[in-house]
Order: sequence, then C-alpha cells, then structure tokens
Amino acid sequence: MKRYLVQTMGCQMNVHDSRRIEEVLAADGWRPTDEPALADLVVFNTCSVREKAEHKLMSALGTVRGLKEARRGVVIAVAGCVAQQEGERLLQKARFVDVVIGPDHVAELPALVARARGGAAPVARTVFDVHAPAFLDATPSPERLEVSAFVTVMKGCDERCTYCVVPYTRGPERYRPADAIVGEIRAMVEGGVREVTLLGQTVNSWIEPRPGATPADAPPRWSARLARTSEFAALLRRVAREVPDLARLRYTSPHPRHLTDALIEAHAELDVLARHVHLPVQSGSNRVLRRMLRRYTRELYLERVARLREAVPGLTLSTDIIVGFPGETDADLDETLSLVREAGFVAAFAFKYSPRPNTPSRALADDVPEDVKSARLDAVFDAVGATQRAHLASLVGTTQEVLVEGPSRTDPSRWTGRTRRNEIVHVEGADLAGAILDVVIERANDHSLMGRIARTARPAAPPAPHRLRVLA
Ligand code: 5AD
Ligand code: SF4
Repeated sequence: MKRYLVQTMGCQMNVHDSRRIEEVLAADGWRPTDEPALADLVVFNTCSVREKAEHKLMSALGTVRGLKEARRGVVIAVAGCVAQQEGERLLQKARFVDVVIGPDHVAELPALVARARGGAAPVARTVFDVHAPAFLDATPSPERLEVSAFVTVMKGCDERCTYCVVPYTRGPERYRPADAIVGEIRAMVEGGVREVTLLGQTVNSWIEPRPGATPADAPPRWSARLARTSEFAALLRRVAREVPDLARLRYTSPHPRHLTDALIEAHAELDVLARHVHLPVQSGSNRVLRRMLRRYTRELYLERVARLREAVPGLTLSTDIIVGFPGETDADLDETLSLVREAGFVAAFAFKYSPRPNTPSRALADDVPEDVKSARLDAVFDAVGATQRAHLASLVGTTQEVLVEGPSRTDPSRWTGRTRRNEIVHVEGADLAGAILDVVIERANDHSLMGRIARTARPAAPPAPHRLRVLA
C-alpha cells in the first residue's frame, strides 16, 4: 500500500489546501501515515506569510533527507507558498526534492508523484491558473464527521498591502462561480456539515466570474477607498435561500474597504449569518495604515464597525494586528491600543512585522528593534485580553445557543462548541458533535466559557447518507 505524510506548515488557507492534497492522494489510492519512516511520499505544505518560512522548510527537509537515502523510491514534494515563491530554485537548493507545486497545481500531484516514482526528473509547477482557475471541491471523508467546514470562494489577492507576500505567492484574484459554491455547500450540509465558513484572501471582494472574464474585467478596485461591489452580499443571500438547512454561515477574511452597505444590510437580514466578523485592521494609526497601503483610515474602519454594530446589536469583532512595521513609533502603537478599545475586539491575532520576499515594504528599513516589537506585541495582547475577559464575564448567567463541534482537546468528558458570536463554550455530555444547544453560562475563563445544557434545539448530527453506505 502507498502511504503518504502531509506536513502543514502554515495558515488557515494552508490547512484547507492540505485537506485538498490529502483528498487527491486518497482518490489515487494513497493512505495516510503519521510515521515518516513508513511514508512513500512526504509532502511539505508551506506558508510564507510570516517569519522565516524558507529556513523552516529547509530544516524540515533536512529531517527527511535520510529517508530517501534509506529507502529507494521515496518521493519528497513541496507545496504551498514557499513552493510557489521558490519554484525551480528549490530544486537546485534541495536536490533530493522531486516535486514542487504551487497552490494552483494540487490536482496534478498524484500524476507528478507517479512520474517521480517511475524515475522522472524533478519538476516544478508554479504557473498561476489565471485563465482557467481551478477550485477543488471538498470530498468529505466518510470516517470524519465535520460539523464546521471551509468552502473556498476566491483565491489570490489584488490589494498589494506593502508588507504582504500573498499577492506574489497566490497570484491575482480569481473567483469561483456561485453555482459551484452553493453546490458544494449543499452537498456538505447533506453530509452532516452544520456550519460553513466561506474562505478567500479578501473574501468580500468576491464577484461572479463572467464568461470569458479575466480579473482585469473586474470593477476597478485600486483607487476606490470604499469599494462598491455588492455581489458578495448577494452570494450570502443566495446561500441562505438555497441551503435552508445550513445552521450557520461565516466568512473569512474580509477586507474593511469591501465592507459595503449591502454587506451590512445582509448581516441585518440573514439569521444564518454569524453575529461575529473577523475584520483585520493591522494598525490603528493612519500614518502606518497609509504606509501599509491598506486603503482605509482609522476613521473609516471605525465608521464601518459602528454601522455593522447598529445593524446587528451585540455583534463581536476580532482582528489581525501587526506591530513594529517600519517607522512605527510609540505614538502609533498608542493609536492601535486605543482602536482595540474603541472597536472592542474580543480576540486578535497579533504579529511582529517581518520583511517578506518581493514585498514593497522590504525597501523600508526594518527599524523597530526586536525587544520593542516584543513589548508592543505584549501590549496589544494585554489590551485585547482585557476586552475579551470583560466580554466573557458579562455573559455569565445568560443563555447562549451553542453549536457543538467536538470533544474538548484538554478534557475528554467535555464537549466544545461556539456561539453565533464565536465565544468558545465547554459543556458536559455524551456524543454531542453537531448538536445545537441552549447553554446556561456558569463560568468565564480567560478565553472561553463553561456552561450547562438547558435545552437541545437540534440533536447531534445524524450519520450522513454516504456514511451509512460505508457502514452497510
Ligand atoms: N509580517 C507580520 N505579519 C504579517 N501578516 C501578513 N504579512 C505579515 C508580515 N510581513 C499578518 C497580517 C495578516 C495575517 C494573515 O498575517 O496581520 O492579516
Ligand atoms: Fe495580504 Fe493585504 Fe491581500 Fe490581505 S488584503 S492577502 S494582507 S495583500
């Protein structure tokens, strides 16, 4: 039996891609293994959004070099953003690598691996599929009950934030047709999925791809501060209408300048939409935002947030923040901290700026010392921690609707789920995956809530038809 091992080294998009890699391999007769020594194929799925991704890859590759020497026929593949960025160069740097594939070439992996097993020369495939973009449908595994799943709606990014490598590793924006998106969601819900998160680099810039259209035909986005497209809002409405059994709909990550009035109206209208938005802000200082080329101001961001909150009372927000961007001063950081409080973020991913290959900000000196970056990161986490703790404490004694996702990672007698506002809730019980419960909140931890079940609004997800077929 052919066995593969996929090592995921990155972001949410990367995790999603790893699942597609596993699926195309499974369809070609491959089976997974956790044991490198047993693997006939090792795939490194890389991410280069932050930090020294190339170094990490090279040291990870070092650990499998011996496998190839010990056993003939073992294939080493590198996928993802570092593969895209380095291409052929990677084959020169690591001569035992057989296959290098960018994110648009996942479907070709089994054929390229078969050729490598047959003795073909190493190969790199990194051309973007600009004219015929491929989006792989998820094929849920019969063994794995998925309560919450991701569905890709667009790939690539046209924004060009100056610190960000994504436009260069994922290419220009390409959109998936609404029919395919809705079809995939419908199939997932029939298979037991209860919550779907629409996925894209700037997910809310989605437009319906028109016949023969290339991204150049898309509405002009570069100059406008607040985009005016309302097609993403129409997509949300269509999903709500055509997949009525879907319990919850989320999307990530939106760009603030595509948070249109139409999208805010959709939030007010659609019950299925989560009452939580992850809206990356990156900085609260206009000076820094301008140098990051984020194309919005602090004021515009806060105005959009206020409108969203008016439309959906009680909505929660989380964000991404970068500290230590070139030229960032203590005063800039203070602006970020005051924005954290004003926007009332209940969670944040915060990162120290790191210069990335090919990005415009590389031309600026990385002049904030490492210890200052660390102190600023701590200050951001402290500020967000304070808003998060106050928010969670305010929920003790209330009843919340919780969609249970699976057993708790730390305590197998507990189950873990999330509310519509994305608070994490633990409850005691048995076999609750997929259940929707009313939970009385009894205690608040730093990052989550504990509660007891008051009512079961929807029982645990039934076995999907395809699972029954497998069991029979
Ligand atoms: N340095 C630090 N953080 C970065 N991000 C993207 N590029 C960089 C970089 N060069 C962060 C942003 C983005 C998240 C996915 O990663 O906050 O929203
Ligand atoms: Fe990167 Fe900016 Fe595009 Fe997000 S919007 S992927 S941060 S360039």
